[in-house]
Amino acid sequence: MYSEPSFKETLITWFDQHQRQMPWRETTNPYYIWISEVMLQQTQVNTVRSYYERFISDFPTIESLARADEDDVLKRWEGLGYYSRARNFHTAVKEVVEKHNGVVPDDPEAFLALKGVGPYTQAAVMSIAFDLPLATVDGNVFRVWSRLNDDTQDTALQKTRKSYEQDLLPYVQSQSGTFNQAMMELGALICTPTSPLCMFCPVQEHCEAFEKGTVLERPIKTKKQKKTLHRLQVLYVEDEAGNMLLEQRDQSLLRGMWQFPMYPVETSHADIEQEFDHHILIDEEPSFHLKHQFTHRTWDIAVYRAKVTDHHIGGNPFRHWIPCSDKKQYTFPVPMTKIFKAMQQAD
Ligand code: ADE
Repeated sequence: MYSEPSFKETLITWFDQHQRQMPWRETTNPYYIWISEVMLQQTQVNTVRSYYERFISDFPTIESLARADEDDVLKRWEGLGYYSRARNFHTAVKEVVEKHNGVVPDDPEAFLALKGVGPYTQAAVMSIAFDLPLATVDGNVFRVWSRLNDDTQDTALQKTRKSYEQDLLPYVQSQSGTFNQAMMELGALICTPTSPLCMFCPVQEHCEAFEKGTVLERPIKTKKQKKTLHRLQVLYVEDEAGNMLLEQRDQSLLRGMWQFPMYPVETSHADIEQEFDHHILIDEEPSFHLKHQFTHRTWDIAVYRAKVTDHHIGGNPFRHWIPCSDKKQYTFPVPMTKIFKAMQQAD
């Protein structure tokens, strides 16, 4: 006797036919799946592909990553952003070597206890690598599930995540990794934020928001925290021998990464010159301005070219002269790489 396929069957059939090919979908190695999920948390699939391939080729085993220097790990992450992810992941992998014999634990509680692992990473790795019954709730799943149920809970709240994880539990009692990835894929390909392709949606007939015409009003999410604007200036100082002056950041944002000497825009050039014992000449006008958006802040940077009359390094103990040709050995935040390229082209 024919019976209607269930929501889950319909979704998984669609996923089998339409999923994008991704290198981490071809492996069952929990360490590789974990890498992909850490990278995918804040970054688009297409950007992650090449970073993932390079990362597993440079650190093919848990042991090889555990042994690596933090600077080398950050270097492989350069450009992906959210660098604390990389640092936490590195720490977690060392914990796996020390406490779990180098084997990714297949116990959800033990995995959650590792540095940087939250409920999303826990559910993703445990379901995809070990088929354990945990539901992933990321931004895509919030959107898909709130629309399917025409749900008005605020998805910015922790308790909404908990309630979605509970709602989804019946669907992840088997094939959990496939179901979770199908939900995320539906959110990425069909149930998109502003122009969802409802006419192509495999589960349209299960969707309450579609029926009520409220698709674009879901999910409900309270306003994002406003970004703070940081107005900064950096000095691009290069000597005759082709060395540039860099400082390593010690602040929590981008800790350990390298930048050109940076000051708040209010710091006068007279004060900076004094810091360099008057062995520096700073252009009067900036060469250019650059804006860069982080999650909670914007940097508006004025870039000044400067020359030094000897190798003074100014007041910051984290400063060093570095050959421009060694740039690849240092991890730069994206805006600093842009400044470097612009200044090299201008030369
Ligand atoms: N987003 C994060 N992880 C994903 C996965 N495994 N499949 C689809 N989208 C994802």
